[in-house]
Amino acid sequence: MPEFLESSPSRVAVFGLGYVGSVTAACFARVGHKVIGVDSDERKVLSLNAGKAPFFEPGLEEIVANCVASGGLSATISQEEALAAADVAMVCVGTPSERNGNLGLDQLRRVCEGIAAASADRTVPLIVAIRSTVFPGTCDEVVIPIFRACTAITVVSNPEFLREGCAVDDFLFPSLLVVGGHDDDAVKRVAGLYASLGASACLVSLRTAEMIKYACNAFHAVKIAFANEIGALSEALGVDGQEVMSTLCQDVKLNASKAYLKPGFAFGGSCLPKDLRAIGYRANRLDVKVPLLDSALPSNREHLYRAISAVLDSGGKRIGIVGLTFKENTDDLRESPVIGMVEHLIGKGIDLRIYDPHVSLDVVYGSNRNFLLNAIPHIGRLLDPKLEYLLAWADQLVVTQKLDAGTAESIRRSGLPVIDVAGSGMARAGAGMAV
Ligand SMILES: NC(=O)c1ccc[n+]([C@@H]2O[C@H](COP(=O)([O-])OP(=O)(O)OC[C@H]3O[C@@H](n4cnc5c(N)ncnc54)[C@H](O)[C@@H]3O)[C@@H](O)[C@H]2O)c1
Repeated sequence: MPEFLESSPSRVAVFGLGYVGSVTAACFARVGHKVIGVDSDERKVLSLNAGKAPFFEPGLEEIVANCVASGGLSATISQEEALAAADVAMVCVGTPSERNGNLGLDQLRRVCEGIAAASADRTVPLIVAIRSTVFPGTCDEVVIPIFRACTAITVVSNPEFLREGCAVDDFLFPSLLVVGGHDDDAVKRVAGLYASLGASACLVSLRTAEMIKYACNAFHAVKIAFANEIGALSEALGVDGQEVMSTLCQDVKLNASKAYLKPGFAFGGSCLPKDLRAIGYRANRLDVKVPLLDSALPSNREHLYRAISAVLDSGGKRIGIVGLTFKENTDDLRESPVIGMVEHLIGKGIDLRIYDPHVSLDVVYGSNRNFLLNAIPHIGRLLDPKLEYLLAWADQLVVTQKLDAGTAESIRRSGLPVIDVAGSGMARAGAGMAV
């Protein structure tokens, strides 16, 4: 839940004056904090102290010049000097790719070891905020252990979302503000540094904050790749891809929206698998490579296998499946991934029964009925007409759809363990594939 927090001027040391650190240092100074930047590259330090931005970024030079002139911003190569005057240390050093694709943490380790060495006898509290992009678990497994002996230091994650080319604007008008950590006061304190921007902060756990940054970048990359593949396919079909995508974005209910962006079960139904197959076939014939679009069905299958594995690993002897259609509030069974799951589990000799409020054999007809009977010929023996029968029989439930309040309450009261493949919030351990 985003929170608006109180702000008071703070003393901030920014470690690393690259693209992220320079903008962070300058903009924090611009909103009234006393900022000292640190970099091992003396040229950047000299440049900043001379009132010049170390590199080109629209609007940065002016802020640096004004803030250095007013005394709100300075730079040093000395970590000790910077820490002496700081209650928050923002770590903005690089985390470049290693040859194998892993994240390089050398700069991060070195700067944290430097802060730890300079803070061994420190009694004044210091919050170390990791602004560099680091993989989930890095703060817990790499950063916090470095500060084990530093009792005055608390670590939080405060990932950066700015884009080069409009970084100052992105900082001053943030699209997202995330702070995570184990210590609520430290998290609120760091979020408070941004309070004068009028943006609300999302306060989350430490690993969630780290993961959000990766989720955002992966999402942006997938969006770009999607638009480019649709553009390439459109062009090969003699269609204006710009018009297609700008029209697609007109739909802010299903397309440019939260819709379909919640971890849950595999997709299915009579449209998505069929239409993705058609795109793949036609693109191939047109010699247009669309690897992202081609990967959606295999990705979906992997997700189905994860659900099947969760059921097999549960150790349940009598599996009760709630929901047979591909989503709630429909009786359409065509290409329902639940049917694939049921087929697979039956093949493994699992004893199971199924309840779906919208499916009973005497009502289902046409292509729907054919699809069901082809996949599971003895489905009639597996369907329970009432949820209570299923709950009385099963020792393990699998929820595959969002549930109405009454069904959810009955399941909760049954006390049965739930594998919540739908991310419906029914599992004790949380959403998604939790068991
Ligand atoms: N560049 C972006 O658009 C962007 C956006 C969001 C997040 N990020 C992430 O932010 C982090 C920083 O990115 P960047 O592009 O600013 O990197 P950068 O390479 O431009 O800057 C890193 C700076 O850290 C300095 N440094 C390294 N070790 C140091 C040490 N021990 N003490 C002091 N200074 C030291 C380097 O001299 C350099 O100036 C990365 O994790 C990156 O993934 C970058």
